[in-house]
Amino acid sequence: MARSPCIIRAVPAFRRSIAQFRDAGEKTALVLTMGALHEGHLQLVQVARKRTRRVIVSIFVNPAQFAPHEDFASYPRSLVHDLKLLTGVDLVWAPAVETMYPQGFATQVVPQGPAKVGLEDAFRPHFFVGVATVVTKLLIQCAPDIALFGEKDFQQLKVVTRLVQDLDLPVKIVGVPTVREQDGLAMSSRNAYLTPAERAAAPTLYGVLRDCAARITDRERIARVLDEGSRAIESAGFALDYLEARHAETLQTVESIKDGPLRLLVAARLGRTRLIDNVAVPQRR
Ligand code: PAJ
Repeated sequence: MARSPCIIRAVPAFRRSIAQFRDAGEKTALVLTMGALHEGHLQLVQVARKRTRRVIVSIFVNPAQFAPHEDFASYPRSLVHDLKLLTGVDLVWAPAVETMYPQGFATQVVPQGPAKVGLEDAFRPHFFVGVATVVTKLLIQCAPDIALFGEKDFQQLKVVTRLVQDLDLPVKIVGVPTVREQDGLAMSSRNAYLTPAERAAAPTLYGVLRDCAARITDRERIARVLDEGSRAIESAGFALDYLEARHAETLQTVESIKDGPLRLLVAARLGRTRLIDNVAVPQRR
């Protein structure tokens, strides 16, 4: 049986292990996670394993990306189980909060551009500063050749891609398509919060996204399609934060399919659980 990976918790030991890979001329990939691993995370690992000799997974529930009223304390943590899922991974980097943010920590990375387009940033104003700061730290600590991010968090992928470009970090960001449950629900650590009734309603989000995308491809007016999509989401019991069509690269607002390529993005709450999802709008069928 394959062994669980080696887990490292201190920066100097992490640096030494990474240096060994580099000295041996081995390319490295970093998969950044907050743990509570599922098939979506494992897909990132699989893609990484095809591309580099060494794969490192970071597991760190980052307090800086949670607002005080959000779920940092209750966020699912399952390190022992996570390690069992990570066979074939070379290293797991699981620093303590005090290691990442020691007393006196006083620096933030404050992203603009795709981090300021009125999507997640409008509902979680603290979020991308927390993400950008921790991602920058993790990328500097590990200095991987590539780092993999899921399209599930589409705006995050754009923010990180921009950040790496702007700060000249020598790493290639690789986006990985969203992994879904059989019924279409995007896999997420937060799906564990759903009650059975909410879980039954949750796939509506993807169903509406796909339906809206097909109608926009068929040249229906975007505003009308999104209006009807919003009502369908609310009828399924969600409180909708946004359902928007945006330019797939810049995330800027668009008027028509001619302004594309387009991406549809949604965020909605079911009870105490906030779900996000997105799909591409096919150009032509
Ligand atoms: P987390 O939510 O644990 O997700 C870690 C990575 O897995 C992200 O790149 C995310 O987009 C990807 N992912 C999650 N669900 C996925 C799915 N169903 N299909 C494909 N990829 C999926 O995103 C974060 O953690 C944090 O913000 C982090 C980047 C680690 C910074 O703290």
